[in-house]
Amino acid sequence: MNKKAILLAGGAGTRLYPLTKIVCKQLLPVYDKPMICYPLATLMLGGLRDILIISTPKDLPMLEDYLGDGTRLGVRIAYAAQPKPEGIAQAFLIGADFLGDAGASLILGDNIFYGNLDFYREALALERGACIFGYQVRDPERYGVVEFGPDGRALSLEEKPKEPKSNFAIPGLYVYDGQVVEDCRQLRPSARGELEITDLNLVYLRRNELHVKPLGRGMAWLDTGTQTSLLEAGNYIATIEHRQGLKIACLEEVAFRMNFIDQAALGRIVDGLPKGEYREYLRMVCDEGSAAHHPEPIPL
Ligand code: DAU
Repeated sequence: MNKKAILLAGGAGTRLYPLTKIVCKQLLPVYDKPMICYPLATLMLGGLRDILIISTPKDLPMLEDYLGDGTRLGVRIAYAAQPKPEGIAQAFLIGADFLGDAGASLILGDNIFYGNLDFYREALALERGACIFGYQVRDPERYGVVEFGPDGRALSLEEKPKEPKSNFAIPGLYVYDGQVVEDCRQLRPSARGELEITDLNLVYLRRNELHVKPLGRGMAWLDTGTQTSLLEAGNYIATIEHRQGLKIACLEEVAFRMNFIDQAALGRIVDGLPKGEYREYLRMVCDEGSAAHHPEPIPL
């Protein structure tokens, strides 16, 4: 059965105050587009077209106003509220009806990936179990951390350990089979009162159904958790975009290159955009012709 997607874009964004006083974290600019475009593009490039966006009751209307029901991008976007930030794994309980017994991929609305996404497409193709990833970072204690055994299998998972057993952080991109909702129903809140995503992953690990793939250093997984890392992420995107003359996570372009919309539909979108650089870029993409002219690699 085809997997569905959840994009979790709630939370109070307190660490980015006062930036987050008016607009939620996931709508803050990362260079030339709102942050949420990047995780949404990752889902779309994975081929996922049924997407549930979860956010706070306060922020949902603005997200919905920006992205709509997804029709113009050739995807279906539904929305649901998380009244309080009671944990990342709660997303599956909120999304239970939306998911049914389909498997699911979850991405955090503040996680930015740039690079070849084959690792993600392979994970989505798995029939059974769950798949998460490991990415080497300097400061693993800020994240979920995975420890690998000599055979490359995961030995342990810990959420923000004081003394990390490895430098491999677990990025906010997860893939689960149809068992996930039932497993979440069995979880209990942690000491900080949250349904922890790491506890969910431990359930799969104990069942021997967890794949943990290390991501190569050629992949960029960018942080947006602090003012400085947000600026650095923006600078990174700007650098690559200027060098290549291509945009990263331009949703209309992704929809076109994934064949979710055709050239005529893209043309209509372009006609409706305000004059400016974004419109000129999409006009160029559209004029270059059908997606068939851009076989590989699909730019993020
Ligand atoms: O970014 C990857 C990390 O994300 C993982 O390595 C950790 O295992 C995972 O727990 C998470 O850690 P964070 O410290 O980044 O979690 P945080 O509470 O900041 O939440 C991450 C995003 O998810 C944030 O943008 C807010 C949103 N969120 C979080 C919670 C707990 C929600 O929308 N609802 C929630 O209930």
